Amino acid sequence: MVSLLLITTLFTALLSSAADQHWYNRNRDTVQKIYDLTVFPANAAIITGGASAVPAGLFNENATGRVTPIGEFFGFQDSIEYFFGLAPLPDSIPPNGAFTNATLVEFTSGCPEVAASTAYLTLSTINPDNSTGPFITALKQITFWRFDDEGAVLKYDAWIPDLDLFTALLKGVDPYTPTAMNNTIQQICALQAQTCVGNNTVYDGIPNCVQILAAKTFGRSDETWGDNVVCRMIHVLLTKFRPEVHCPHVGPTGGGKCIDVAYNDVYFNDQFLFNAQLGQPFTCQNMGMD
Ligand SMILES: *[C@@H]1O[C@H](CO)[C@@H](O)[C@H](O)[C@H]1NC(C)=O
Ligand SMILES: *[C@@H]1O[C@H](CO)[C@@H](O)[C@H](O)[C@H]1NC(C)=O
Ligand SMILES: *[C@@H]1O[C@H](CO)[C@@H](O)[C@H](O)[C@H]1NC(C)=O
Ligand SMILES: *[C@@H]1O[C@H](CO)[C@@H](O)[C@H](O)[C@H]1NC(C)=O
Ligand SMILES: *[C@@H]1O[C@H](CO)[C@@H](O)[C@H](O)[C@H]1NC(C)=O
Repeated sequence: MVSLLLITTLFTALLSSAADQHWYNRNRDTVQKIYDLTVFPANAAIITGGASAVPAGLFNENATGRVTPIGEFFGFQDSIEYFFGLAPLPDSIPPNGAFTNATLVEFTSGCPEVAASTAYLTLSTINPDNSTGPFITALKQITFWRFDDEGAVLKYDAWIPDLDLFTALLKGVDPYTPTAMNNTIQQICALQAQTCVGNNTVYDGIPNCVQILAAKTFGRSDETWGDNVVCRMIHVLLTKFRPEVHCPHVGPTGGGKCIDVAYNDVYFNDQFLFNAQLGQPFTCQNMGMD
């Protein structure tokens, strides 16, 4: 009798640990796959191919999230543009870096719908033949995830600490010298002149763009969300995906995105962003109930 109970208990425990393993591994795989697509040249294929190049099952069509200190993202297209469209491409300017490795240094998932991770995205020089050259630095991203019933990402709240220090190493120069700031403005204006054309024109030519941006606050990469140059530096990279959406963000008014926001509003608006009460999006609801 006792041994039968013991065997039944053991068997049930084994079965439930196999089920745990299933969603733990599923969630880990999803997160790893997302970061793997930021690695060059996988990111280049998505930057060229757009949404159709993103494998099914990674993001729910209604995925929303916040990435501190960059902004908030609403829906599948917004989310993939952030995750893959902003992953650096080699640009022929030393150190010519891109992500060459995505490692989940921390991962935990205590229930099927929630996980947390810390990813290190290794930035290395890309050699002319696309092989991996010297290590430059790594981008650290700490993220809470919520998954839908199929295991696709539905909500995320991510943080990139020290983006300012990362950016300096990515660019290979102090980004805040007068020369570097001038170069950044010139680059934004040249890029938008290629992608923000026709209906999506936001400046009356490159000199007009340079003049308007030179009069704005430059901003810092540790807080890109504002009516400043660094915000436009990020959003100009997205204009090749959906110029009708992103060109206004690069334009003189910031198009509702590169605008000065209140810290108290945008970094704490979980109810608005996740349509759920505080503590619900990223907390296992059924812990201890079974
Ligand atoms: C996305 O949201 C819309 C509107 O609420 C809903 O009709 C649709 O089923 C959702 N899609 C998924 C995959 O959950
Ligand atoms: C990525 O980096 C980790 C940690 O340095 C290392 O263990 C792993 O082998 C690397 N993976 C690849 C594909 O280079
Ligand atoms: C390097 O990768 C990019 C992006 O996939 C590709 O366009 C380019 O042709 C590759 N260069 C070499 C030398 O293989
Ligand atoms: C900014 O850079 C442009 C292009 O390199 C150059 O023509 C211009 O003189 C620079 N302006 C300043 C203020 O350094
Ligand atoms: C400009 O916008 C109009 C109306 O939205 C559209 O019909 C037209 O095709 C667009 N033209 C270009 C060049 O994108």
